[in-house]
Amino acid sequence: MGLRSDIRTIKRKDPAATSTLSILLTSNGMHAVWIYRFSHLLWKMRLKLLARITSTIARFLTGVEIHPAAIIGKNFVIDHGTGTVIGESTVIGYNVLIYHQVTLGGTGNESGKKRHPSLCDGVMIAAGAKILGDIRIGTNARVGANAVVLKNVPSNATAVGMPARFILNENMKEEDCSLMSKELK
Ligand SMILES: CC(C)(COP(=O)(O)OP(=O)(O)OC[C@H]1O[C@@H](n2cnc3c(N)ncnc32)[C@H](O)[C@@H]1OP(=O)(O)O)[C@@H](O)C(=O)NCCC(=O)NCCS
Repeated sequence: MGLRSDIRTIKRKDPAATSTLSILLTSNGMHAVWIYRFSHLLWKMRLKLLARITSTIARFLTGVEIHPAAIIGKNFVIDHGTGTVIGESTVIGYNVLIYHQVTLGGTGNESGKKRHPSLCDGVMIAAGAKILGDIRIGTNARVGANAVVLKNVPSNATAVGMPARFILNENMKEEDCSLMSKELK
């Protein structure tokens, strides 16, 4: 979960990010992820109010709201970030990229413990997309800008539109969701 690995990943995924110094100083998405890691630690230590206060400060500073209970794997990049919301029971695998104004939220009809989506490794969620409910976005799947996704997306598929339709390819698998870290399963 290192700083260097975060910066390397941002350089790989964002063509505009070339200088380490400018990433350190200006990447609000990265700042949001760092503060989330601290608030998640507080949450795990059962300091829940402090964790919520920390994530509220992060929202104020970065425009990104990540619930401290969400589970997020390595090399997670939020590009631009402003307006992005990540709900309480969201699970995010490794090497996931999301853009600004993305919502990983509940539908409003669910009341159980798991109300938010799970994103498998390598997923990309484009700007403005809303992923709602306890659904799975399969490994290396992509979700297009402004899509509204209410159903599981197969691995390697692309979901576009509202409600989302799937553009499939030969590598698609219905059930596959590789999450590299066991603790994320
Ligand atoms: C989803 C996305 C990655 C798909 O790229 P792609 O695989 O190259 O897909 P294509 O451009 O070949 O389009 C395939 C089909 O999906 C449609 N489509 C693509 N993106 C769409 C979108 N966001 N909403 C609705 N339909 C979309 C195309 O019109 C095309 O439809 P057709 O088959 O009926 O002609 C891309 O369109 C996208 O949304 N990128 C946004 C990235 C982003 O957030 N950038 C912000 C940077 S600041």
